[in-house]
Amino acid sequence: MFGVATSSFQIEGAAEQRLPSIWDTFCDTPGRIEDGSHGATACDHVSRYRQDVALMADLGVDAYRFSISWPRVMHADGKLNTKGCDFYLRLLDGLNENGIRAFATLYHWDLPQYLEDRGGWLNRDTAYRFQEYTDAVSRVLGERVFSWATLNEPLCSAQLAYELGMHAPGFTDRAMAKQAAHHLLLSHGLGMQVLRQNCPNALNGIVLNLSPCHAASESHEDRAAAFRADQDLNGWYAGPVLTGAYPDLIDQLPAHEVPDVQEGDMETICQPLGFLGVNYYSRGVFRAAQGALYEDVAVPGKPLTDMGWEIYPEGLVEVLEMLSDRYDLPPIYITENGAAMTDRIEGGAVEDSSRIRFFEQHLAALERAIAAGADVRGYFAWSLMDNFEWSYGYSKRFGLVYVDYETQERTVKSSYKAFQSMLKTRNDRSAC
Ligand code: FCB
Repeated sequence: MFGVATSSFQIEGAAEQRLPSIWDTFCDTPGRIEDGSHGATACDHVSRYRQDVALMADLGVDAYRFSISWPRVMHADGKLNTKGCDFYLRLLDGLNENGIRAFATLYHWDLPQYLEDRGGWLNRDTAYRFQEYTDAVSRVLGERVFSWATLNEPLCSAQLAYELGMHAPGFTDRAMAKQAAHHLLLSHGLGMQVLRQNCPNALNGIVLNLSPCHAASESHEDRAAAFRADQDLNGWYAGPVLTGAYPDLIDQLPAHEVPDVQEGDMETICQPLGFLGVNYYSRGVFRAAQGALYEDVAVPGKPLTDMGWEIYPEGLVEVLEMLSDRYDLPPIYITENGAAMTDRIEGGAVEDSSRIRFFEQHLAALERAIAAGADVRGYFAWSLMDNFEWSYGYSKRFGLVYVDYETQERTVKSSYKAFQSMLKTRNDRSAC
């Protein structure tokens, strides 16, 4: 199954038709977004979704992964906002009419600001509010959705947002990050329980971002640092979800950084999964550092994307191997993979051959992983179109489709055409 992915805050716009989210507040805070921009308009997808669905139909994808904006579909009193839901009903109808399977993610980082005002993910109650939201929205949209994911990349919602200050709400405190992570994981478990009841026939799961963690040198110290990084970045999320336990690193944390885990929480978090979504972008290289669990280092001379992320296709094989070595797994979907490149529109065309190469290399790696036994059922390119890249604003372009943010004009890139012809060849072959 091949698809493309997006997320609500990054493309939707129509901010005036919903409640504010933590990302609106973050964008309003000077210095938080690199290019000083705001996600309020983004790709104006709420008005232009028909055109965007037509682009996907023309591309020939089997599936579309998008996220639902919690502040668009819920009122602050926990009641459903039916007007906000109407947008998703129309979008889902458009997808289903075109035979495109809908992969809906419930939380891709745009927490309603009213919940942040009550403590956000530091407040255990937010996990229960997530369950309430999941219940309400899955009842209304459930029949039209092929697959539900509870969370997108809880690592980012916890670490980037509460420890590194790079994402909303922008705190810099590791103890906070660990507590937020626990409440996020709890919300996943509570959400899965509801999805199993409301949508028993859907493919229900979670999306994690995973990366191989390599040591910067063969020294014992660096290898131990890479091992800690792996536990902190991969195991901290995959472990609880798939086995009901945090990695051993939890015993090495200072007491004030150990999250408050209540009785029964780990059982709640570890629910049977219909699928595991894996987002893969790059590897990490780590060394030991004073006063930190680990420190990441840039390896000179490696090919990089416009994000400065190393292009490392073999990492996809390594991540899938690591998962199958450690866990009993449900079927896997690669729910995001892609690259920001310095795209230029020239004479109405965008020649992004470096992105085509990126996809070719990663799909070849995926083929190797599958040949080695990985049960991967689908692959989603990030992203359908250029969009609001979080703290980088509009300065980074990941799309198969180029977006002119002045005019909202969409222009398909060469990578779109390459993806389209790959899908067409596949369809022609399977017709034989
Ligand atoms: C992932 C996010 C997605 C996008 C890509 C580039 O971590 O899930 O929203 O920003 O990175």
